[in-house]
Amino acid sequence: MPVLALVGGQWGDEGKGKVVDQLAESADVVVRFSGGDNAGHTVINHLGEFKLHLVPAGIFTSRVLCIIGNGVVINPAVLMSEIEMLNKAGVDTSHLVISNRAHLVMPYHLLLDELEEKSRAGKALGTTKRGIGPAFADKTNRLGIRTCDLLDKDGLKERLTMVMDSKNTLFTKVYDAPPMSLDKIYDEYCVYADFLASYIKDTSVLLTQALARKQLVIMEGAQGALLDPDFGTYPYGTSSSPLSAGGSLGAGIAPNRIDKVLGIFKAYCTRVGNGPMPTELFDATGDEIRNIAHEFGTTTGRPRRIGWFDAVAARFSCFINGLTSVALTRLDVLDSIPSVKICTAYELNGELIDYFPASVADLEKCRPVYEELSGWNSPISHVRKFTDLPLEAQRYVRRIEELMGCEVGMTCCGPSREQVIHLKSVI
Ligand code: GDP
Ligand code: IMO
Ligand code: MG
Repeated sequence: MPVLALVGGQWGDEGKGKVVDQLAESADVVVRFSGGDNAGHTVINHLGEFKLHLVPAGIFTSRVLCIIGNGVVINPAVLMSEIEMLNKAGVDTSHLVISNRAHLVMPYHLLLDELEEKSRAGKALGTTKRGIGPAFADKTNRLGIRTCDLLDKDGLKERLTMVMDSKNTLFTKVYDAPPMSLDKIYDEYCVYADFLASYIKDTSVLLTQALARKQLVIMEGAQGALLDPDFGTYPYGTSSSPLSAGGSLGAGIAPNRIDKVLGIFKAYCTRVGNGPMPTELFDATGDEIRNIAHEFGTTTGRPRRIGWFDAVAARFSCFINGLTSVALTRLDVLDSIPSVKICTAYELNGELIDYFPASVADLEKCRPVYEELSGWNSPISHVRKFTDLPLEAQRYVRRIEELMGCEVGMTCCGPSREQVIHLKSVI
């Protein structure tokens, strides 16, 4: 049985939660590997509708071991309420495990995210304000507090005292803000420690066992390739790598153990937050797609920006992730659009280019070159076989496949678990 890394191919919100929930039915382990509660993964199945921020979307299949990997930054307050929400809905979380190496989002990270965004003024990144950037900065700067620290309350106090000393200096001297109370934060985190202690384990041991038993492991990515700190639209992106390479580090699975990489793409593009998006639509079609698809952020409720499918960016995403197949979601959203467009190249400074530029300034100047295909103008949400799709929809999927240079293994025609069309095995 292989290890499958599942990654967002665009700017996030491609439908990763839905696809993980669907594939988890045949998996043994699902491990979330990056981001934090900036993620919002929607799952709709026989148990109801759920918006997960930290818990892996395999949680609804009770024999699947669900791991929050070392690469995730965890806000314990959010995790605690997510576990409580799931339990209240009758979802068992006894098969959830948290890596003892994961870093924690602390109250000062939330405040810093807010203050840093304010200080960027007109150049704000549009973060989710979940403290993600500051938490990953502390991790890299060796000032982080980890889940294993929750298991040693004396050690926690000592480390928190040292870290908060420097944070409070920053708040009072740079931001002219009041200091935060060490005692209050310590007491609060002791409550989380008691709640979460039984979930915190050395997950690398569990993954080593799973691989030795040749179990099917799904690595669940968060965000999307175009938000990657190295290859995305820097600085308009997130602070941990959503790529398959990030998955290797963030799950604790060596790169040569990953057999397949599945990229999740919407049949069009969306983006929340600021930064360039070459195919963005500012017209009635964009509004229509937003309304049909109810494109509002799962985590923040912000309206998502809408654009045509960008095959230039998608090809880059395929290459950088080493995709072995693609899942194309939300095809049904385009059901009533008379003609659909795919961006096949950019025009930059009067020249045609087929690569994704590194610089935000260049990306903002890129004008999309489109190929236009006729729409299918009929509902497809009931379809379960590719050849039962209207020919125009089949043609749209095949053209995207051709332009991306990667086979489409599945496509989705609705938000529920069963609204999937399998073309080829992705595992
Ligand atoms: P994620 O962050 O990648 O897990 O995606 P989100 O959950 O943030 O956003 C994806 C949205 O699309 C959710 O509202 C899903 O319920 C919905 N969705 C996923 N696949 C499909 C699909 O094929 N058709 C439709 N109409 N909605 C879908
Ligand atoms: P899922 O896993 C969409 C975006 C934010 C912002 C940028 C930086 O649901 O696909 P951050 O809070 O990470 O510092 O914000 O990244 N962003 C996402 N956009 N889906 C997500 O996650 C995102 N996580 C972060 O909107 O532009
Ligand atoms: Mg989302």
